[in-house]
Amino acid sequence: MAVTWTSGYSTEEAVPFVEWGELEGPQIRSAAGTLTFSRAHMCDSPARTVGWRDPGFIHTSFLKDLWPNLLYTYKLGHRLYNGSYIWSQSYTFRASPYPGQDSLQRVVIFGDMGKAEADGSNEYNNYQPGSLNTTYQLIKDLKNIDIVFHIGDLSYANGYLSQWDQFTAQVEPIASTVPYMVGSGNHERDWPGTGSFYANMDSGGECGVLAETMFYVPAENRQKFWYKTDFGMFRFCIADTEHDWRPGTEQYKFIEHCLSTADREKQPWLIFLAHRVLGYSSGEFYGIEGTFEEPMGRDGLQELWQKHKVDIALYGHVHNYERTCPIYQSTCVREAAHHYTGPFEATTHVVVGGGGSSLAKFAPLRTRWSYYQDYDFGFVKLTAFNQSTLLLEYKKSRDGLVYDYFTITRDYRDILDCAVDSCSRTSMSS
Ligand SMILES: [Fe+2]
Repeated sequence: MAVTWTSGYSTEEAVPFVEWGELEGPQIRSAAGTLTFSRAHMCDSPARTVGWRDPGFIHTSFLKDLWPNLLYTYKLGHRLYNGSYIWSQSYTFRASPYPGQDSLQRVVIFGDMGKAEADGSNEYNNYQPGSLNTTYQLIKDLKNIDIVFHIGDLSYANGYLSQWDQFTAQVEPIASTVPYMVGSGNHERDWPGTGSFYANMDSGGECGVLAETMFYVPAENRQKFWYKTDFGMFRFCIADTEHDWRPGTEQYKFIEHCLSTADREKQPWLIFLAHRVLGYSSGEFYGIEGTFEEPMGRDGLQELWQKHKVDIALYGHVHNYERTCPIYQSTCVREAAHHYTGPFEATTHVVVGGGGSSLAKFAPLRTRWSYYQDYDFGFVKLTAFNQSTLLLEYKKSRDGLVYDYFTITRDYRDILDCAVDSCSRTSMSS
């Protein structure tokens, strides 16, 4: 488990560490590393100018050799060089299930949440009006959540750096209790002339530095924010849509590797996550382009999803909820339903970008593959009951109730079975 926090103590003033151990058991101390960045790391204004604020120091400690499923307690510490200690409050978390472990596992996924003021103060334009409802619903249900994925557009600080602290303070009850995994979005990374795939100004000059420094993810290089992570019966492949993903790129190789190395007997639930919609969306701005996806999105990837039998692909960026039929090459391979059983046929695509930022309209054209649309704030919860039953629920942030759902029920041999383009193209003679 990686524990990350910020403080005002440099390595010259204090030694940062985490004191932790099993609940009511002996506690040990683990070292923490310290990172920071300067104004010169910001790519442009406002992050470099009026939006700049010294970030202090970002500490990360890795708590290792955890016993799966057990409860741990931890607190953050700083040992000052005068011998005194500064302590945080105590927190608890449950250690993650062993990869492949068959047990109840519950995953929350959403994008584009941001932050807001509970009393409505200090708001420039109420830019992320659903954010508090989403946060409160998750906190309320936290005992029934094992891990959270916030797939890009995290704080919407947009170069006003203090807003990152506002965001992390808002999500602290969640992020201090369950793994809070993040993806990179346009508001984290994009800036002209800095290597982002899109040359817009959505990061406000941060060009990824804030997200890459404040959030630990198991990427080989956090500048390239793609990574895989295993959680019990789930394999998650997280793409970085702000860098090129098309065939021939480094990221494409990563995606292929992540999907192809999932042991589906032990980790049957293969989930693809990305910020922009690489699959299918009826969001108005994709409709106007006539693509119903991020342009160039699925062209090279859909064969990978099909070949490696990705169960569900989820995206943010479009601020609403939408679910497709099991779809391949723009064709419903089967009718959308609330229950799927038997062999894999095609990936279901879900847009879950209604985490909190102002809602996005749907295009007037209703495609055949668009099964469920909701213009509201919400999030998705995946529940793996065991290795043969998975439930997806879409819940509204306003009331926490379920408005769309489906289950997948199958046996291991159903994954081994061939779907369209999912088996190697062999001839009769072979
Ligand atoms: Fe976005």
